Amino acid sequence: MSEVIPLEPSIIVIFGISGDLSKRYLLPALFHLIKVGLLDSQTVIVGVSRQSITNEQLLDGVDLHHDEATEPADTEAQQRLLSQLRMVQLDLDKLEDYQRLKQQLEDIEAEQGICMNRLIYLSIPPKIYGSIVELIGQAGINGSCSHGNAKSRLLIEKPFGYDLSSAQNLIDETGKVFHEDQLFRIDHYLAKETVQNILTFRFENPIFEALWNHEHIASIEIFAGEQIGIMGRKVFYEPLGALRDFIQSHLLQLLAIVTIDQPEQIDSLHIHQNKQALLDNLQPVDMTAETPNAVRGQYQDYRQEVENPESSTETFAGIKTYINNDRWQGVPISIWTGKGLAEKRTEIVVTFKSGDRPANRLIFRISPNEGIEIELLAKKPGYALDLQTAHMDFSYDESFNDYSHPNAYERVLVDAIRGDHTLFATSQEVLAAWRVVQPVIDKWHANADDLITYAMGTEGSDLAKPIEA
Ligand code: BG6
Repeated sequence: MSEVIPLEPSIIVIFGISGDLSKRYLLPALFHLIKVGLLDSQTVIVGVSRQSITNEQLLDGVDLHHDEATEPADTEAQQRLLSQLRMVQLDLDKLEDYQRLKQQLEDIEAEQGICMNRLIYLSIPPKIYGSIVELIGQAGINGSCSHGNAKSRLLIEKPFGYDLSSAQNLIDETGKVFHEDQLFRIDHYLAKETVQNILTFRFENPIFEALWNHEHIASIEIFAGEQIGIMGRKVFYEPLGALRDFIQSHLLQLLAIVTIDQPEQIDSLHIHQNKQALLDNLQPVDMTAETPNAVRGQYQDYRQEVENPESSTETFAGIKTYINNDRWQGVPISIWTGKGLAEKRTEIVVTFKSGDRPANRLIFRISPNEGIEIELLAKKPGYALDLQTAHMDFSYDESFNDYSHPNAYERVLVDAIRGDHTLFATSQEVLAAWRVVQPVIDKWHANADDLITYAMGTEGSDLAKPIEA
């Protein structure tokens, strides 16, 4: 991190602190924020869990250093994390427990002698967001402390709803308890360093902007392949599948970043305005066309893993669509994702029009080996005019090897504490993204005849062939 701007002391309440997401991402992120001196020593992390567990039990087995292969263990930061953490046992259905939690938050503020901003993080299955937010409101946890004024904010993880109508309901329900400016809808892909750099690359390097349209670009492909399966997250994944888990959120957000018009200013308001316009112009996937615009698959052992021999949940999904505006008219966009594939690889590939020649391609590598690559034609050394594709490569590791950059969850926490909405999804963006995939959800819900089974280790690009741009 190049610059350390200390954060205001806050109370961070994490519902579901003993769950997978918290152990894999949140606790290591908080640990690292303590380590680099960003998290104020008066900040208190309140861990909410159904079971009664101690701080030590919670951290047992958590790999706090998982993002820090080269850094030594820091026992002092670990001690600070333990001392700033207060575990609270709470029955998610009982209003009295929320009232007790509210009292505990007020006690903490009285103890510290200041009124602190409250960050309420829901790291729990999305289907129970609605009822929990309602109880938070009834107990008054969404308010400020009794002896002063501070802000309360709600952080929720995607997916926001399961389809267009449930998303709309969720937005209406949360809107009764929190205003839009108190809501932080997390899409951790937006907080990835390379994703933020796409905007800089596009808008600070004028050589590309003139070519960024349908006259020069032949197609855009966005994909996120993963080698891992669902890693035991049956309860989370089985009602979702790849389309809802990845495409509706992460990948449509990436598409928006890559294709939006230049914002008047690079700030939250203008970026969101332009993203909204773009997503509103994104064509809902046409499921009536003769050639397929969506494809789905399931890896071979999935049904045994989730103990459901009938499961039609897709672990691979792909869609093809278009953006109906002047800039992008007619440019095919294919987007796919899958688990149990040959490799972990997330890329955005922009292919330029090239007539009969091999195409120039610009590749944003989100992972692994984050960077940006341009494929150009070059003459091979020698007397003949033989051409070959050459690669111009910008790699983060090589160019910025002196800098460590915050991982996506650190960034999410820091921005939410600061109240900066730039890297979070707005309610209207979420709805626009659901509109794009809703025809696929409807068609897939009707029957599962087109679900193919694939072997673990299959190449994602092979499965995506039917929607190739
Ligand atoms: C999450 C999905 O949002 O992103 C997971 O729910 C997926 O299914 C994960 O594994 C991938 O994130 P990353 O940052 O490791 O690419």
